[in-house]
Amino acid sequence: MQKVKAIYPGSFDPTTNGHLDLIARAARIFDHVVVAVLNNSQKSALFSVTERVEMLTEAVQAFENVSVATFDGLMVDFARQQQAQAVVRGIRAISDYEYEFQMALMNRRLAPELETVFMMPAEKYSYVSSRLIKEVFRLGGSIEGLVPPSIVLRLRERAKRNLGVSDGEI
Ligand SMILES: Nc1ncnc2c1ncn2[C@@H]1O[C@H](COP(=O)(O)OP(=O)(O)OP(=O)(O)O)[C@@H](O)[C@H]1O
Ligand SMILES: [Mg+2]
Repeated sequence: MQKVKAIYPGSFDPTTNGHLDLIARAARIFDHVVVAVLNNSQKSALFSVTERVEMLTEAVQAFENVSVATFDGLMVDFARQQQAQAVVRGIRAISDYEYEFQMALMNRRLAPELETVFMMPAEKYSYVSSRLIKEVFRLGGSIEGLVPPSIVLRLRERAKRNLGVSDGEI
């Protein structure tokens, strides 16, 4: 039987437990999952692409069928290069739906052979986004349980390096 490979693209700046929840679900239904970090110079990121790949690689170590890669340009070109049949995207709330629906249909036009599969996270992660994690951390709120412990440490290190001050400041 043919193996089914899926791409899970995103910016992962940084990895959250919401991303990992989705990766775990995707790893159960696809033979192989490639988590693909978008190298997008237009979107200003807190962590470099190299750091983001490092964080994800650490976080997905336990999954035998998950790998991490980077891409730039069109996601569909990357998916073709990888010979993937599916793209995984997460839907948290109705607010994600509109954008995701539009992207999925545009991608279908660009690559009709590629199927977009939407997945929902566990309810406890349904409000988690990288943007909100960075904001709450910056303002001194606790993000424990919402990102892997190593990400909290990286955020703290980054805060110290950036401003020479303690926790909570980026
Ligand atoms: N908590 C979550 N539950 C389900 N899907 C998620 C979650 N967080 C992100 N995703 C999905 O993962 C994919 C990649 O998302 P992305 O890297 O933009 O993360 P993000 O948390 O939305 O970051 P940002 O806040 O910077 O947009 C998208 O399909 C997004 O909907
Ligand atoms: Mg997003």
